[in-house]
Amino acid sequence: AARSQDELKRVAAHRAVEFVQSGMVLGLGTGSTAAHALDRIGDLLRCGALRDIVGIPTSEWAAARAAAAGIPLSDLNAHPVVDLSIDGADEVDPALNLVKGRGGSLLREKMVEGASRRFVVIVDESKLVPCLGASGLAVPVEVIPFGWALTLRRLRSLFEGMPGFNLKLRTAATDAKANSFDENVFEPEAFVTDNKNYIVDLFFEDGIHGDLNLISDEILRITGVVEHGMFLGLASSVIVARKDGVAMMEK
Ligand code: A5P
Repeated sequence: AARSQDELKRVAAHRAVEFVQSGMVLGLGTGSTAAHALDRIGDLLRCGALRDIVGIPTSEWAAARAAAAGIPLSDLNAHPVVDLSIDGADEVDPALNLVKGRGGSLLREKMVEGASRRFVVIVDESKLVPCLGASGLAVPVEVIPFGWALTLRRLRSLFEGMPGFNLKLRTAATDAKANSFDENVFEPEAFVTDNKNYIVDLFFEDGIHGDLNLISDEILRITGVVEHGMFLGLASSVIVARKDGVAMMEK
């Protein structure tokens, strides 16, 4: 029988947890795939197979889930060097570049995972794309609420002329898959991140073509942009759970 998508997520997560050793400072990811890793680490702590783990959560959600699993928590100020981070992703391209942030926690994820000696990404095969943006899902950009509509306009100018490009303020009611443009969203409806910011979702019908590092720089140069969900060159390896087995992509 075909394995369900959630089973595949669990297989990838459990494989990644095999890299965890006692005494490590661990970056704890966010999302339905990372949830399996958090639960597994909790189980191994409880049975004594792992000891002295310190977890650095990448979101308020991860902090709550890890605490429930019995993982001791700290933060980046106390532990600026993280031994290993394990997290899911929305998209993975052949060069191991990622899109993250469909759950809205891209900023803390990028801080924790960027401070990690090793960053292992866990996905089921549905997350593999030929180029970033190609799944039709959002490429999120975290923006400060002040003047968000101006920031959105500047983001739109950046990609003006790119066929199939669209963008919208993420609302709490709609998810990142929605692709209808509505610039006149009232602020009370905006999705608010853990950092009390908003998210502007970018959509690229045929994926993002061009120099990703350059596009990243251009997005980050807009005043009002805090961070974006393209994780370029950050992943050390990607564990892909497929229906016919597990594959490992290495940098
Ligand atoms: C959270 O903001 C995201 O970056 C998640 O890591 C990503 O959306 C993967 O989530 P799933 O494992 O639930 O697909």
